[in-house]
Amino acid sequence: MAKIITVMNFKGGVGKTTISMNLGYALSGDRKVLMLDLDPQFNLTQYLLGYSKYQKILSRGDPTICELFEEGNFNIPIRPMEDYIVGVPGCKNLHVVCAKLELYRTMQTATNANNILKNKLSAVEGSYDVIILDCPPTMSVISEAAFFVSDYVLIPIMPEYLCTIGLPLLYQSISEYNMRNPRQQVQILGAVINGEDGYRPEGYDAIDDIKDWCTGRDIPLFQSRILYSRSYPKGARMQTPISQTPYARWYTVDNFNTFVREFRQKAGV
Ligand SMILES: Nc1ncnc2c1ncn2[C@@H]1O[C@H](COP(=O)(O)OP(=O)(O)OP(=O)(O)O)[C@@H](O)[C@H]1O
Ligand SMILES: [Mg+2]
Repeated sequence: MAKIITVMNFKGGVGKTTISMNLGYALSGDRKVLMLDLDPQFNLTQYLLGYSKYQKILSRGDPTICELFEEGNFNIPIRPMEDYIVGVPGCKNLHVVCAKLELYRTMQTATNANNILKNKLSAVEGSYDVIILDCPPTMSVISEAAFFVSDYVLIPIMPEYLCTIGLPLLYQSISEYNMRNPRQQVQILGAVINGEDGYRPEGYDAIDDIKDWCTGRDIPLFQSRILYSRSYPKGARMQTPISQTPYARWYTVDNFNTFVREFRQKAGV
C-alpha cells in the first residue's frame, strides 16, 4: 500500500513544488510514484509535462483534479481514477494528476472533498509505492482533504525570518486538524530547510530559530538541508530533475540525494 505524503507550508515560494517534483523523480528510479497537483498555479503539472503536452490535455478536455472533486456536479461525469492519471514522458514509474487554474473555484465550492479524495486514491493505492500531494500555500477544503488521506506532512522551509514565523501557523492548523479528525490523524514527517546558501548570517539566525522552534514539539527537523542552487529554477524551465539538469554541480545533486535518502528512511519507502 502506498505511503501518502502531503508537501505543505502556508508560506509561498519555499520550494514545495521544486522538492515534490525532484523527490518524485528520484523515488521513481525504483518505486512507482503518483503525484497530485493540488495548486491552481499548476506549477507541478507544467514542470512534469511541459507546456505543449499540458496544453493538449486542456484542449482535449481531459479530466483534471478539478473534475475529480466536482464529479456528479455541473454535469461532470463520474470516472474511474485511472482516467485522471497522466504518464510523465520518459519516466515510466512517474504519473501525475494535473491541476488547472479553475481549481481556485473548486477550492471554494467543493463539498465532501475528504471522502472523494479518499475513495479515489484507495482505488489506485495498491498500484503505487508513494503518492505525493503538492499543496498551495493556503488552507482550503482541498488542503484539508490532503491531510485526510495522508500518512505524513513534509514541510519545506527556507532559512528566512518570515518563514520561521509561518511555521507555528502551519503547526497549529495540523494540530487542529488532528483534533477534529482523531481517526484520520496525519503525522509530521519533518521540516526540511531548503535554499541554504552558506553565506548570509541571516540564514544561520533563521536556522537557529527553526531549530529552537521545532525542539520540544513533534516536528522532527531533517538533518540534511537542501542547498541553494540556480540549477533548480533552470531544471524547472528545462523540465529536468536536478540529477539531469545540464551543468548542475555534482555536490548539488549529491546534496539532494542525501535528502532523498533521509526521506526514504523516515517515510519507509
Ligand atoms: N534550493 C533551491 N535553490 C534555488 N532556488 C530554489 C530552490 N528551491 C526552490 N527554488 C526556486 O524558488 C522558487 C519557488 O519554488 P517553488 O515554486 O518550488 O516554491 P513553492 O513553495 O511551491 O511556491 P508556491 O507557494 O507558490 O507553490 C522557484 O523559482 C524555484 O525554482
Ligand atoms: Mg508550489
